[in-house]
Amino acid sequence: MKDLIAAIQSDALARIVAATDERTLEEARVAILGKKGSLTTAAAGMKDVPKEDKAEVGQLLNSARQEITAALDARKTALQDAADQAALAGIDPTLPARFLQPGALHPLTMIRDEAILILRRMGFSLAEGPEIEDEFHCFDALNTPADHPARNEKDTFYFDSGKLLRTHTSSVQIRTMEQSTPPVRIIAPGSAYRRDEIDATHLSVFNQLEGLYVGTDVSLPDLKGTLEHFFRELFGSGTAVRFRPHFFPFTEPSFEIDVKLEIKGQAPRWIEVAGCGMVDPAVFAAVNRSRKDNAYDPDLVTGFAFGMGLDRLAMIRWGIRDIRLLIENDARFLKQFA
Ligand code: PHE
Repeated sequence: MKDLIAAIQSDALARIVAATDERTLEEARVAILGKKGSLTTAAAGMKDVPKEDKAEVGQLLNSARQEITAALDARKTALQDAADQAALAGIDPTLPARFLQPGALHPLTMIRDEAILILRRMGFSLAEGPEIEDEFHCFDALNTPADHPARNEKDTFYFDSGKLLRTHTSSVQIRTMEQSTPPVRIIAPGSAYRRDEIDATHLSVFNQLEGLYVGTDVSLPDLKGTLEHFFRELFGSGTAVRFRPHFFPFTEPSFEIDVKLEIKGQAPRWIEVAGCGMVDPAVFAAVNRSRKDNAYDPDLVTGFAFGMGLDRLAMIRWGIRDIRLLIENDARFLKQFA
């Protein structure tokens, strides 16, 4: 029995050392320590060992098992190390790490969020409306007659259903007033669509931010003060802002707003950034007809509205000369904002 154990032990150790991968090592373990393994089988012979030898043989069996188990563990670790080494052989860990580009907000997102923040501080809350709009909300209710050029099929994207891609966010003015009674003080950022030739200052999809304030005592000075404050918050307290008389069917009087752009080394320029005006009573009348009440009684309420081009604001803020840069997703351009 003692000889048998010694033989099994030396045979087992040789087999373990000879194992060249984890699979053959596992086979060796099963052949020695498994249910039908050589050492397990030998241990079953304990019952035939004479009583006086049992202690000694038992000890031999135990130490053989311990030694074999230790050898299996050691071999397993060695084989795993070797496998790791082989896997790393093609890699040079001294090379500099690959640089991951940090993500960043798009300039349009940044300027929109900033604009929203400033207007929210002044008490405006967010509203929205659909981009696929009907003619009533986009034109009729905004006092824009059927023969107005903005409604021309050459200038606007129409669907077969008669709906259209909204040409401005002013439709949200109507939708808001249909749903709530005065006072209302809302802003609505969103896309607008026009059949414009695409060039350095025009896209067929662009971004506007609409504003509407209706109450019992809203006046032209409120409009002027609100928007001057807005542009100075956005572009700095020294920013020159100018209101030019203009025409919009849905406001009277109406203005376009220019901001003076001063870039070092360039002659200063006035850039048009928004349209605005006092809500035309005809708009209130259309809203009342749609609501079937007189909540916006033109004799009792007044209001101002404005719509600005967010793309233009971004161009002014960062001195961007070509609006197309805002949609091209050129990483060389966008990186500057990261
Ligand atoms: N909707 C007008 C435009 O797109 C801008 C505007 C909005 C003008 C609100 C007056 C009042 O040009």
